[in-house]
Amino acid sequence: SVYRATTTAPVNIAVIKYWGKRDVTLNLPTNSSLSVTLSQRSLRTLTTASCSANYPAEDTLNLNGQPQEIHPSRMAMLPSPKLSTLPLRIVSENNFPTAAGLASSAAGFAALVRAVADLYSLPQSARELSRIARQGSGSACRSLMGGYVAWRTGELADGSDSLAEEVAPAAHWPEMRALILVVSAEKKDVPSTEGMQTTVHTSDLFDHRAKNVVPERMAAIEAAIQARDFHKFAEITMRDSNTFHATCLDSWPPIFYMNDVSRAAVRLVHDINRAVGRTVAAYTFDAGPNAVIYYEEKDEALVAGTVKAILGASASGWEGPFYEKLANVT
Ligand code: DP6
Repeated sequence: SVYRATTTAPVNIAVIKYWGKRDVTLNLPTNSSLSVTLSQRSLRTLTTASCSANYPAEDTLNLNGQPQEIHPSRMAMLPSPKLSTLPLRIVSENNFPTAAGLASSAAGFAALVRAVADLYSLPQSARELSRIARQGSGSACRSLMGGYVAWRTGELADGSDSLAEEVAPAAHWPEMRALILVVSAEKKDVPSTEGMQTTVHTSDLFDHRAKNVVPERMAAIEAAIQARDFHKFAEITMRDSNTFHATCLDSWPPIFYMNDVSRAAVRLVHDINRAVGRTVAAYTFDAGPNAVIYYEEKDEALVAGTVKAILGASASGWEGPFYEKLANVT
């Protein structure tokens, strides 16, 4: 017989970025981070974990129809080998481009951890699962909850207090929307794990951001979320994206994730906000050129309409946009 568990996990997009590890083995971050969970309707990973005595002896992992190498370090957090001698088969599918800086590893590891926990009927509070998922890929710990999610860096050396917690459910701010501009669906140049290490070892700005900038921004953006203050939320989001990319540029050799289309999107958002006379849109960029633009539903025609009209007409090599709405996922 075959034992099987299927689950899905959402994508999250950080507004305060995780960048840098204080412990590479345990995958502990240098700074806390905060993200917004996107609706699974068009951005999600679907994962099935199964085991059977009839499977070939090797555990296998398949992503979007392609067999993947099982990374022993990244899979070490899975309790599977200890719980069952049956070979494990994991099949995972994204409904969006993988490794394009769209946080696919976050949804992927979150779904993987929950599918395996379900398969072996393990205790599975979101907190517990987030601690496990963090070890596979840091940002994955924020994909086990809905709404606005903080990953607290924690203080303990063993990392047991480095996990995600919900700051507010999606229903707290139901007007929030995210527009994703797929500037490029190509695989990113420098994988985030590697990029982070370069930054940690070579950038002076990195230390300054972690110690002096992020703690205040975390407190300020949590307050902005509680107050549903889009102006404050937007300014902190844009500034933190810019500071993160500045630490990449400050790395040696420098790392570039944004491209000309990304920069055109930045200018356009500032132009729209200035022209309207209030903050209606906020951009953020992960380890890739794709833009995520947050706005409130009442400004959808203005923001999404202008972005599509202007960038769509002028940017070459642009494949987007596609829409994504924020929804509660828990
Ligand atoms: C720029 O979670 O992919 O998206 O822990 O090495 O797997 P690893 O890194 P990963 O890094 C994400 C970096 C980011 C910012 C963020 O999501 O907070």
